[in-house]
Amino acid sequence: MKIAIIGHGVVGSGVVEVILKNQKLINERVGQDIDIKYILDIKEFPDSPLSDRFIKDFSIIENDPEVKIVVETAGGATFAYDYVKRALKAGKSVCTSNKELVARYGYELFEIAKEKNVNLFFEASVGGGIPIIRPLYQCLAANDIIDICGILNGTTNFILTKMIKENMDFQKALSLAQKNGYAEQDPTADVEGIDACRKISILASLAFGKYFDPEKVYTKGITKITLKDVEYAEKYNSVIKLIARTKKYPDGKVSAAVSPCFVSNENQLSNVEGVFNGVLLNGNAVGECMFYGSGAGKLPTASAVVADVIDAAIHPTHIKNLFYTKSEEDFILPYEETSEKFFIRMKTSDLSQAEKVCGDIFSNFEKIDINEKDEFAIVTEEINIKDFDNYINKLNEYNFIEVITYISVL
Ligand code: HSE
Repeated sequence: MKIAIIGHGVVGSGVVEVILKNQKLINERVGQDIDIKYILDIKEFPDSPLSDRFIKDFSIIENDPEVKIVVETAGGATFAYDYVKRALKAGKSVCTSNKELVARYGYELFEIAKEKNVNLFFEASVGGGIPIIRPLYQCLAANDIIDICGILNGTTNFILTKMIKENMDFQKALSLAQKNGYAEQDPTADVEGIDACRKISILASLAFGKYFDPEKVYTKGITKITLKDVEYAEKYNSVIKLIARTKKYPDGKVSAAVSPCFVSNENQLSNVEGVFNGVLLNGNAVGECMFYGSGAGKLPTASAVVADVIDAAIHPTHIKNLFYTKSEEDFILPYEETSEKFFIRMKTSDLSQAEKVCGDIFSNFEKIDINEKDEFAIVTEEINIKDFDNYINKLNEYNFIEVITYISVL
């Protein structure tokens, strides 16, 4: 069976490598040879073992009836969207690692795939090499999913781990992550939480059955986290992680958010370190379920993409019914209508007065003391998010208090 690959970056070249490395067993599993006929990229790759397969014109792939599967590893939602749509319309199955594409246009593309009786697979779009998409819509299909909480971005987890374990500064850790091929082309999507936002929107859509628009996920990144915050977390028996979470409420509404959080050392996610991702979910039949593995990087991500290729090759016609429909008006519960505990760190010239003020504002809080001069830090009770700014404003009203930062507490 002939396949074509769009994009020869980290993941695309990994797909070539995995197919060539495991060619014999892949062919045996599929029951026929998987042959990479074309690789589409704007750059030249004269040193590639498949240097003769490179092309620059997508219409060659689109119009070649021999190509049955198109792998999309280019990323972004501009030309990747166009090519994937055209590939599906031309009756080819598509396997993509592109979370931006799936989070934004998934629903529309699944409809085209169904109409054309081909498959659109996207196992690598969330959690890199971790099997999470198929488990969610297939193995856990009998469950009413209650909540999902995960570390879904390898780059930020790598950076935070370096900060926690090695006292390394943010920029140095980011450069290392980029060098290792974990980060997006523009790492803003990683460090500002946008990548994790796309991934949790995909998981929320699959878990709760209706499209969850990534624009509606409250998203905050890790760029303002300092080594001092890391120290406060440690004193609170926690670590700071970028946590993506989604939850269904008893009235059926669903919320989703991405933000740095204090995660207790007793929570399994606290042990997910480096480029690893972890997803902890709760189903009403299965109970708690944890998924763990390499969340980014060339071969782990390619592992998931090539598994999709194998599945698509074995099942050339549409087999997967994704359990999600269009979104509905009242499906999403805005973040402002949820509640969370917060770590609040403030500068103050008067510690005892600051404590008294906090006592007046919050009915309950815990102090965290790392012997930092002129600083007062607390973990609050659960606060309704819509009231949160009020509390911060009230604190800042005192001329001896200035709120430095706040971080959610899981
Ligand atoms: N930049 C992404 C990450 C790649 O760091 O997790 C995998 O999606």
